[in-house]
Amino acid sequence: MLFALVPPGWTALVFLLPPFPGLFGRQAVLPGLVCALWAGVAAGLLAFHPVLSGPLALAGMALVLVLVRGQLSASLVHGSLPPGSLSFAKGVRALGRRDFYQREFRRYGPIFRSSQFGAPVICVSGLARICQLLRSNADQLGPSPLSFSKSIQGNFIRYMNNDTHSFYGGLFRRAMVGPSPAEVEVSLLEQAQALLVSLSGRGWFNPHASLHRFSRECLNLLLFGFTADAIGQHFAELSEHFGCSSLGSVVRGLERRQFDELTRMLDIQLARLKLDPGTGQPILLRLSQVNSSMPDRVCLENLVFMHKIASDDVASLLLWLLYNWGVQTEISEQIRVMEATQQEQALDAFMAETLRLAQSEYLYRRVQQEFNFEGFTFPRGWIVRCCVWESHRSAEELSSPSEFRLRLDPDSYDRGHYAPFGMDRHACNGVDLSNSIARAFLKALAGGISLELKHSEPFQRRMRHWSHWAPNRAMTALLTLSS
Ligand code: HEM
Repeated sequence: MLFALVPPGWTALVFLLPPFPGLFGRQAVLPGLVCALWAGVAAGLLAFHPVLSGPLALAGMALVLVLVRGQLSASLVHGSLPPGSLSFAKGVRALGRRDFYQREFRRYGPIFRSSQFGAPVICVSGLARICQLLRSNADQLGPSPLSFSKSIQGNFIRYMNNDTHSFYGGLFRRAMVGPSPAEVEVSLLEQAQALLVSLSGRGWFNPHASLHRFSRECLNLLLFGFTADAIGQHFAELSEHFGCSSLGSVVRGLERRQFDELTRMLDIQLARLKLDPGTGQPILLRLSQVNSSMPDRVCLENLVFMHKIASDDVASLLLWLLYNWGVQTEISEQIRVMEATQQEQALDAFMAETLRLAQSEYLYRRVQQEFNFEGFTFPRGWIVRCCVWESHRSAEELSSPSEFRLRLDPDSYDRGHYAPFGMDRHACNGVDLSNSIARAFLKALAGGISLELKHSEPFQRRMRHWSHWAPNRAMTALLTLSS
C-alpha cells in the first residue's frame, strides 16, 4: 500500500513545490503532474479495486529503486567516500539554486558527494586540484556523454575514446586554433554594428532570439564560410530548426533528416570553397588544408553538432555580456571613454571577467575504473563534476574573486585560476572563434550605444545539471544610439 502511493506522491512534490514551476515551467510541471496522476490513480484503484495493489506496489518499488540508486551504489563501495548527501530530492532541488555547490563546499570541504536525478556524483572544487585530478587519473576518467553523441559517426569529439580523439582532436585543434583573418574580424564588427543599430530602432525588445541568430550567423561564416546567398540562407534556416533538438536524446525522424541534410550541405560548401577559397579561411576549408583526405563524415557530422552547441554557448556569452554591460554601468562608462588601444584591452578584460563569473560552469567526467584521490574513493560508474564556476569565485590569487571588476592586470586570468574553456586534452577548440565574435559584439556596444535593461533577474536555466545559467528569459533591453 505504502509503496503504491508514497514514492510517486513524494516525487510529485520534488518537482512541483515552489520555486520549481516558476523557474522551470513545463520541464518541472510535466514530471510532477505525471507522478501526481500516478499517485491519484493508485489511491483510486486502492480504494475501489484493492486487488490491484500488488502491481501498483511493484511499480512503486521500481520507482524507489530509481530514487535510491545513488545510496545503493554507495553501499557497495569498500573505500572511504567523500562526505555529502546522495538524496534524490536534494540533488534535484539543487537545480534551482545557483549557489548550491558553493554552499556544499563550505559545508563539506573541496570534495563532496551529491546526486543528479539519483545518479551519484562527486563534486570537486579548486582549479589546481581539478587539474591534478584530471592529469593523475587520465586513464581512469572517461567522458560522461550525452545521448546525442550516439547519432554521430565516430562519436562527438568531446566524448571520443582516447585513440579516436588523438587523431580527430589534433586535427580539429590545428584547424581551429589561431586568430581569424583581419577581413573576417572587420566583417564581424560590421555585422555586430548593423545588429545593434537595427535593434536600437525597436524600443524595448527581448534580446534572446536576436543574439542567438547573430551567434549562429557568425559561426556560419567562421566555421563554414557561408554568406547570405541561397545556400547560406538554406543552411541558416535549417540549422535554426535543428538547433531546437535536444542533446539529451538520440537524433531521430525529422531531426535525423535535418541532420543528414545539414551534413550534405557542408559537403557541397566544401566543394565550393575548394573552387573559390576566398580570404576567410573557414574551419571547413582549413580541415582539408591540414589533412588533404579530410574532412570525412566523422568531421562533417561533428561540425554540425559543434555549430549547434557552440551557437548556444556563444549566444549565452553574448547575453551575459549584454547583461553585464547594462548592469556594470560604472565600468562600461569608464571603457566607453578610453582611447582605442586601451579600450581594446579593457574590452578583453570585460569579456574575460564575464566568462569567469557568468559563462563558465563545470567539466564532467565519468569514473571508468575505481581510484583514490586525496584520501577518497572515486567508485566506477560515478560521475565527476569539476566545479569551475565555484573555483573561479573562490580563487585565493584574486582579490574579491566573486566580484565583477575591470581587472586589467593580465595575471588576473592566469590559467592557474581561470579556466572557462576547460583544461585537459578536451579543452575548448573554439576559444579564438568565440573571442572574435564576443569582441566584435562588445566593440559595437562600446561604440556609441547606450543600454537599459529590465526583468533580467532572477537568472534561469533548463532543468538539467549540465545546462548553463542565463539572464531571465523575460529580459528586455532598450538600445539608444548615443553619439
Ligand atoms: C562561450 C563560449 C564557449 C565556452 C564557454 C566553451 C567551453 C568549453 C569547455 C569548458 C570545454 C571543455 C569540455 C570538457 O572538457 O568536458 C569545451 C570543449 C569544446 N569546445 Fe567549447 N566553448 C565555447 C565556445 C566554443 C566554440 C565557438 C566552439 C567551436 C565552434 C567550441 C568547440 C568546442 C569543442 C570542439 C570542444 C571539445 C574539444 C575536444 O574534446 O577536443 N566551443 N568548450
